[in-house]
Amino acid sequence: MNAHSKAQAFIPADLPEPTFADLAHLPGMTPARIPVLRTIKFLQDPLGRSHQMHDDYGRVFRRQDFGGWGVSMIGPEANELVLFNKDKIFSSSLGWNPVLENLFPHGLMLMDFDEHRIHRKALSVAFKTEPMQHYLGELNGGIARGIAAWPNEPEFKFYPAIKALTLDLAAASFLGVPWGPDAKKINKAFVDMVLASVAVVRKPLPLTAMRRGVKGREFMCEFFGREIPKRLGQAGDDIFTQICNTTDDEGVPLSDQAIIDHMNFLMMAAHDTTTSSISSTVHFLGQYPEWQDKVRAEILAIKARTGGELTYAALAEMETLEMVFKESLRLIPPVPSMPRRALKSFVFMNHVIPAGSHVGINPMLTHRLPDVWPDPERFDPLRFTPENSKGRHKYAWVPFGGGGHMCLGLHFAYMQVKSFFFHLLAENRIVLSDSYRGEFNMFPIPKPKDGLPLRIEVI
Ligand code: HEM
Repeated sequence: MNAHSKAQAFIPADLPEPTFADLAHLPGMTPARIPVLRTIKFLQDPLGRSHQMHDDYGRVFRRQDFGGWGVSMIGPEANELVLFNKDKIFSSSLGWNPVLENLFPHGLMLMDFDEHRIHRKALSVAFKTEPMQHYLGELNGGIARGIAAWPNEPEFKFYPAIKALTLDLAAASFLGVPWGPDAKKINKAFVDMVLASVAVVRKPLPLTAMRRGVKGREFMCEFFGREIPKRLGQAGDDIFTQICNTTDDEGVPLSDQAIIDHMNFLMMAAHDTTTSSISSTVHFLGQYPEWQDKVRAEILAIKARTGGELTYAALAEMETLEMVFKESLRLIPPVPSMPRRALKSFVFMNHVIPAGSHVGINPMLTHRLPDVWPDPERFDPLRFTPENSKGRHKYAWVPFGGGGHMCLGLHFAYMQVKSFFFHLLAENRIVLSDSYRGEFNMFPIPKPKDGLPLRIEVI
């Protein structure tokens, strides 16, 4: 089979849509009179509601929200079963399709099994050491320029600023498009697509976010389609050019449409997650200045050794920052839950879950289970020292997922985050504003409720 084969045959044609009656044997919710109110209540306080359901029903329970019945599975064992997917029970495409397929069809997360394996292998060339070293050069330059351009004011909103900066960085390192009017147009089209993917109105009616998203997709598809022939056979240092020139197992290049779909998806998968994780790390570094000082000392030591540059080799030396980042991802994971659909029935913790069930795992809650994470609300990066990590379940910490669909951009994300803090903290201090509320909206991707007002103080 090559990358062009369609591999949906594994999905049973008669996959049932389980009703309340099919799931009645599980602990959990009873039918609501107005189901949409459940979703609204959940979205008002996703973490509180998740804790509540876990306290009321345990680690496996039936739930009714987001338009139907599903099963939540909590804890490292559930994460392992679903993510490792040893018995090929769970479909990622059927889990994510309802959210993503309108605007980001045929992305990696919307593929399963053989088709997924072939495309993932083809895309992974873009994340090998050599191209990664080039991206680091782009990131270092772009981040230094971006931070220097931030307002030197007593208070500015960090979240919109980092969101804009990660978009500009993506134009350069993902697409090889220099900063300027073209990058701006691409950014706008892309933002419209992302906003539409979580819009309530799912039809592209006039004046809706979905309409703008569909237009944005048209623009992006046209841009990629026009650029592909120019990139073929080129040794470009951006992800797009790498993917234009990759091949599958049989040496066959990806089709233009596959390249377009993968690029749209990659940009979406990278953007809000990176923005969210940098924001939460800033939030905790602002709350715990002693950790800022430790990270700064580490950066200054690297600068002294390398003559001021963040080299690719030095990334591995940013161990303190890495622990701070991991602890921030534990408490505020950018992908708080992951959906799948069961292709066959299975048993978990003595409960039979029927074929067709919409199954969700919940890193946001698993990352706060007191039996896995003692004193879970405490911010403590030392949880991630090698000694303290010993004996912890492999699937206790899953901000990047796990198994076959584990985040393909994980190393890129670490690299970008390290480059960002290297440039921000060497000569500056993050000081949170007195007005900062310190709260995040946790769904669908966590973001600070008030934009994270702060000041960047030169030391
Ligand atoms: C802190 C930043 C990030 C976080 C927390 C994150 C998290 C995740 C998670 C949880 C998944 C798996 C979802 C599932 O199994 O249902 C995933 C998949 C993916 N991510 Fe990331 N991500 C981040 C950054 C990035 C970046 C920077 C890129 C690209 C450069 C990227 C590209 C992807 C791709 C392509 C997939 C699909 C992999 C597959 O299905 O095989 N992500 N990410």
